Amino acid sequence: MKEFIQSLPKIELHLHIEGTLEPELMLELAERNNVRIPFNSIAEIKNAYNFHNLQSFLDIYFQGADVLINEQDFFDLTWAYLLRCQEDNVLHTEVFFDPQAHTERGICFDIVVNGIHRALVKATTELGISSKLIMCFLRHLDEESAFKALESAHVHKDKIIAVGLDSTEVGNPVGKFERVFKQAIEQGFLTVAHAGEEGPAHNIHDALNLLQVSRIDHGVRCSEDENLVKQLITERIPLTVCPLSNIKLNVFEHMELHNIVTLLRRGVCVTINSDDPAYFGGYMTDNFLAVNDAHSLSKTELAQFTFNAIDASFISKSEKKQLKMLTQRYLDLHQ
Ligand code: ADE
Ligand code: ZN
Repeated sequence: MKEFIQSLPKIELHLHIEGTLEPELMLELAERNNVRIPFNSIAEIKNAYNFHNLQSFLDIYFQGADVLINEQDFFDLTWAYLLRCQEDNVLHTEVFFDPQAHTERGICFDIVVNGIHRALVKATTELGISSKLIMCFLRHLDEESAFKALESAHVHKDKIIAVGLDSTEVGNPVGKFERVFKQAIEQGFLTVAHAGEEGPAHNIHDALNLLQVSRIDHGVRCSEDENLVKQLITERIPLTVCPLSNIKLNVFEHMELHNIVTLLRRGVCVTINSDDPAYFGGYMTDNFLAVNDAHSLSKTELAQFTFNAIDASFISKSEKKQLKMLTQRYLDLHQ
């Protein structure tokens, strides 16, 4: 099963590029850019990765991002992630970035986008990995700051397919960003939002109704509202679930208690993703393995996560058809 999972074609739809910053690269960039960080070794950095909830993680995550200064840094970060995608047979990835985490400390929006984009383009030609880029607004900041980010994104419209919403969910209701999302939709961006990760099922309703999202990031607390689960099934609204993240941030006590397999078997369009793999101890294959270790899935069920992700992705119909054929062929060959 391990080999089946390792080589299974995968699609990633929930990945924060800043969350792929491995301790090695963090130290290298801190030195290269003369940025002071409160760590002297890889062991010290890893020791600090002891999270008890989302906020305790976010504090470390934003601190880590401080070492990213130049376009080359954003390129190196993204390229390292794409090489990991290749190892895990991730064929398509939809990458989040948090521009406000950088512009708030004086880094130019264009530097961030151009560095990430250059690596994504290179991966298309050199690794055969396709991608989309999604700009997330930080929900702990105000509406005005989000509007500024949206304005900066305008000249990069060709590089950014959608806007999203991340950071501290509790205490920052979706409604705070209704007007920003409305403007983004008018400008032609698709929309997604983190909801129902730490916050209640009600936040998922709000994201669907107020932000017109195409999919929900996390959304695991949907199980608290049976009518919502039914709606997700009948309207085939995707959830981009991040199993290892949910365990590390105590959304579920352990993987055996995670609801992703129950949701899959009920017909919800759930997908497996890595969220912030450098911080949560695993990329795509690790997440699939962790779910399978705890729940014993069939090969057909494991492949269903990929079929769901293809449906939920922002690629064209013909690209979806091609990826589905390839995945079906893999499944048929290994049954
Ligand atoms: N930013 C990076 N990872 C996140 C997560 N899991 N939830 C909310 N915001 C995030
Ligand atoms: Zn996330």
